[in-house]
Amino acid sequence: MITCFREWPMKGAPRRAPSTAPLADHLPTGALRWYSSGRAALYDALTRLGAPKGAEVMMPAYIAAGVIDPVRALGLTPCFYQTRNDLLFDGPALAEALGKHPAVRAVIVLHPMGRAQDIAALAGDCRRKGVLLVEDCAQGLFGRLDDGRPLGSQGDVALFSLPKFLGTADGALTVSSQAGPGPSGRSRSVRAAGAWHKAHLLANRCLHAAVRPALESLLLSLSGALHERYYALAGADFRPSAPARSTLAAAEDLDPADFIRRRRRNVERLYAGLRSKHLSLVYPDDRPGWVPMAVPARVAGAERVEVVRRARVAGLLLASLTQRWDQTPAGAEGDVFAAERDYIARHVLIPINEHIDDESMDRVVRVLNEL
Ligand SMILES: Cc1ncc(COP(=O)(O)O)c(C=O)c1O
Repeated sequence: MITCFREWPMKGAPRRAPSTAPLADHLPTGALRWYSSGRAALYDALTRLGAPKGAEVMMPAYIAAGVIDPVRALGLTPCFYQTRNDLLFDGPALAEALGKHPAVRAVIVLHPMGRAQDIAALAGDCRRKGVLLVEDCAQGLFGRLDDGRPLGSQGDVALFSLPKFLGTADGALTVSSQAGPGPSGRSRSVRAAGAWHKAHLLANRCLHAAVRPALESLLLSLSGALHERYYALAGADFRPSAPARSTLAAAEDLDPADFIRRRRRNVERLYAGLRSKHLSLVYPDDRPGWVPMAVPARVAGAERVEVVRRARVAGLLLASLTQRWDQTPAGAEGDVFAAERDYIARHVLIPINEHIDDESMDRVVRVLNEL
């Protein structure tokens, strides 16, 4: 089955002193810190900010619980802003909202599915107001701005989460101007969470190799159940801790140029071949610097459930990010968060992972066109 789930990379035993050299060329310049998770990294970045309890942190309304939870755990108040139909922020609206919230101490901008946003004007606004600008690049490792700079080059702190791209058991990075060491120890719950995540990634590996529908269903359920076990631990512990040695080893073994080339090739094949009348791409144009986690599209005309069902019968899993992502307040009226609600109700994620070869990618396009 073809999915956008990451799979365990099956690397050999970690070497004694892994380095981050292969990744470094693809990250913004600044001080780099390693963490076990993006949650812990954000928790640490906001702790360093020293904001008083009750201070506000602005963030898009369509965002992972993994961003909100560390904010709340610090006694800070999430303050959600609206985005456009393509989930990119509306510059003037956000500048206005920033002006209306004097208690804001940090703004988080997400590059959705790695799609680069130009935040130069917002960065200027934040600087003038003494507000920390966090670029959430969790879905955009290896992405670049149109001018060639790595994603995360415009804000005060860039945040990357490695499992979402590399299929590691854990791992996150921040890049900022603040020098100093990252965390060193690892708690028991972080280790246990990593073990469950690794099992989930191994199940995904088997899922990708499976061809019989009954086995696929079984592995899909197993993968989901293992992820739940992982999340129960990882979602509750934000204390900064170091990543597993296997994560550092996988980062060291990585060939980023090859990884980027494979993902880009799949994106280009998809954009060149997609003709489905049921799907409209959230980003109608491709960009050379875009290295997405997956390609988002909206289901048009037909119902999502039916489209997903038909694709699945043909061996393609179209996932959606809705669980733990819907922050739009219940009962919000009129146009408030309409774009986010529409996206939540209608989007699917088309896999373009690096392990999908040309033949399989052509199959993805064919299945979508024949839905
Ligand atoms: C956009 C985004 N930012 C941050 C995080 C938190 O990262 P981690 O899972 O490494 O804690 C997530 C996790 O789902 C995410 O999707």
